[in-house]
Amino acid sequence: MKKKVLLMGASGSGKTSMRSIIFSNNPASLTARLGATIDVEQNHVRFLGDLILNLWDCGGQDAFMDNYLTTQRATIFQKVGVMIYVFDVESREMNKDLEYYRDCLEGLRQFSPEAAVFLLVHKIDLVRQSKRETFDKKRQELIENSAGTAIEVFGTSIYDESLYKAWSNIVHTLIPNANVLAKHLSTFAQACSATEVVLFERTTFLVIATSSSTFSGTQSGLLVDTDDGSQGSMEPTRYERTSELIKSFKHSCARVRGEFHSLEMELWDFTAVLDEMTRNTYVLVVVHDPTIETAAVKLNIRMARKKFE
Ligand code: GTP
Repeated sequence: MKKKVLLMGASGSGKTSMRSIIFSNNPASLTARLGATIDVEQNHVRFLGDLILNLWDCGGQDAFMDNYLTTQRATIFQKVGVMIYVFDVESREMNKDLEYYRDCLEGLRQFSPEAAVFLLVHKIDLVRQSKRETFDKKRQELIENSAGTAIEVFGTSIYDESLYKAWSNIVHTLIPNANVLAKHLSTFAQACSATEVVLFERTTFLVIATSSSTFSGTQSGLLVDTDDGSQGSMEPTRYERTSELIKSFKHSCARVRGEFHSLEMELWDFTAVLDEMTRNTYVLVVVHDPTIETAAVKLNIRMARKKFE
């Protein structure tokens, strides 16, 4: 199954940077060397066995944009599964950006009315005053310019986990059996007496499903029992932070010519095991029960593999 993903937005807004971090495992520090994209760069990314993402990174210079909206209109906007439109939070030409955005929405309505639309208010790290306030203001502006089209807006930066949060949510909408996966994960979590189980895609390390079925960008922290009998809450950004940390760890491993296979952590109040689940996925099992051995968790993962293939 192939899903076409359009990546659009003004030149320099950061499209190729995010693509190279998420899909080519490059570190953020290397993105400054990227040149402007000429016309459209197409990539096929195998994502979870049968699902292939057909990524169209559309160079954002005016001449290219004008082309997409006229001569290449049908080619660009047909059969689109998702359009991701990137706005530079510090753009000095917001009016022009919005005009192109509205035109692209129109093209999408004409050729792919079913496509999902995600908007990224990008480079949010550059905002000096309140990031929340700036984001809310931008979000409102984008809603007003979307003429009733259902959109989802994320504030993102290549320098923190927000990029993974946005992309995990986007990809999540493309996985046909995400709910079934989440159900299997809950059963698996119960079998392991785990607090939580998270499934990551192997190369991108984007979150595919979690055992707490409420996986979404706005979920709140989960409550866990701590040793003193009280309840502590888990960080709501824990999934995307794990993605980001593991990706940079993998990068460090590659630098010393090592290969990342699995990870085990035993701390005073919890145990975490990150291991290969299937050919395309990794699973993270978090247990807050000191009587459960890491080896038992690993054995459970091995036994559950077939179910998830
Ligand atoms: P075109 O290919 O011309 O359409 O541009 P693009 O949207 O692909 O932009 P590109 O990814 O080449 O990024 C332009 C610059 O923005 C690079 O120097 C990146 O390092 C920088 N950049 C990308 N994302 C971020 C971010 O989140 N924060 C900051 N501060 N800079 C970023």
